[in-house]
Amino acid sequence: MHSKALLAALVAPAAVSAGLNDLAVRAGLKYFGTALRESAINSDSAYAAILSDKSEFGQLVPENGQKWDATEATQGQFTYSSGDITANTAKKNGQGLRCHTMVWYSQLPNWVSSGTWTKDSLTKVIQTHMNNVMGHYKGQCYAWDVVNEAVADDGNWRDNVFLKTFGTDYLPLSFNLAKAADPDTKLYYNDYNLEYNGAKTDRAVELVKIVQAAGAPIDGVGFQGHLIVGSTPGRSSIATVLKRFTALGLEVAFTELDIRHSSLPASSSALVTQGNDYANVVGGCLDVAGCIGVTIWSFTDKYSWIPETFSGQGDALIYDKNLGKKPAWTSISSVLAAKATGVPPASSSTVKPSSTLITVTTTTAKPSSTSATKTSSSVATTTTASSGAEQARWGQCGGNNWTGPTKCQSPWTCQKQNDWYSQCL
Ligand code: G3I
Repeated sequence: MHSKALLAALVAPAAVSAGLNDLAVRAGLKYFGTALRESAINSDSAYAAILSDKSEFGQLVPENGQKWDATEATQGQFTYSSGDITANTAKKNGQGLRCHTMVWYSQLPNWVSSGTWTKDSLTKVIQTHMNNVMGHYKGQCYAWDVVNEAVADDGNWRDNVFLKTFGTDYLPLSFNLAKAADPDTKLYYNDYNLEYNGAKTDRAVELVKIVQAAGAPIDGVGFQGHLIVGSTPGRSSIATVLKRFTALGLEVAFTELDIRHSSLPASSSALVTQGNDYANVVGGCLDVAGCIGVTIWSFTDKYSWIPETFSGQGDALIYDKNLGKKPAWTSISSVLAAKATGVPPASSSTVKPSSTLITVTTTTAKPSSTSATKTSSSVATTTTASSGAEQARWGQCGGNNWTGPTKCQSPWTCQKQNDWYSQCL
């Protein structure tokens, strides 16, 4: 066969838009996901369109619809109308589903939190709740947050009706009951401020050990990741704290990531810092083999829990209120692309990040079985960047077959990430 014809036969480019989920999967994660705000999805079509784009978000989690007060506000009466919004949206779009949450002190109806319980009667209440709600979503949830926020901010056990009734025995009890309710979902402990590796993190490690010592099943720890611009741990610190839990045989994930500005409006430099912080969190996850995915807690500043809780703070997400991409979107995209292009992909496809800052385009060939054809089949296309242009921070500036700009805007320098990707940092 003529060599050009051979090449054409071997190269089978398939354009894949480089949404964050596409890049995350290419980088080795299971998903990049988002929470779904139930009150917005049917009234805001622009919001719904971005959320429904599987290349951008491969997994959804209901912001409120599966919580106890939404599903069993009255004892024994189960409602799934709100929770089903997310489950049905994910199903329709071919997206995965995380499920949130079972045993939690908040959004817990008064009949539970203020009831008078014995261990037996409260066990039956938890069991009935799990059997119904987890039973309803059986087979749909990649993971369930079985116990949420059991540790107080100072590192002590959080005082709640479950602790009062059982002591810490409610922890293994909850995981055992959850396993019986849905044997195939991953069972997670989920909490915030674990990222700082302080007393709260120590207690969460103890929690995992308590559950494991009791012989109860636990598969993962969710790092909620409600963080603050300029106070977010660096990439290696994130990796270090994640590894405390993977060392216990668990997987980990960022489950509710948002990084808020503590004062508004955010300056342009604060937006860049926010981008750096997001890059550090996502990069830290990429650096840990057992970190399986990242979920952001809503994707747009238009819909976020933060201003209601922290007055004057917010703009914590990666799309602005007009649904435009922020610098944080680009930084996440860049970090994922750097990892995604580290190893030439095994199957034929194209990664093409849509950001103007990181126009990396690789085209891979479908290798035949002989080594001779392998050597002649690998090609790459070029970028449209003009010569002499300088890349902004996070932009690609080198890598195998890169023909775009190799210079960075001051003060950034071009730093090699791997053979396929150098980046202005
Ligand atoms: O359901 C009522 C509705 O009937 C009423 O009309 C409306 C009036 O404001 O309020 C509705 O309740 C709100 C509820 O969300 C459902 O939309 C509450 O006011 C509001 O406070 C509640 O906030 C949620 C918060 O959890 C409650 O703890 C946020 O949306 C949600 O983002 C937030 O999520 C939590 C995670 O589940 C766990 N980790 C922390 C994270 C942030 O707090």
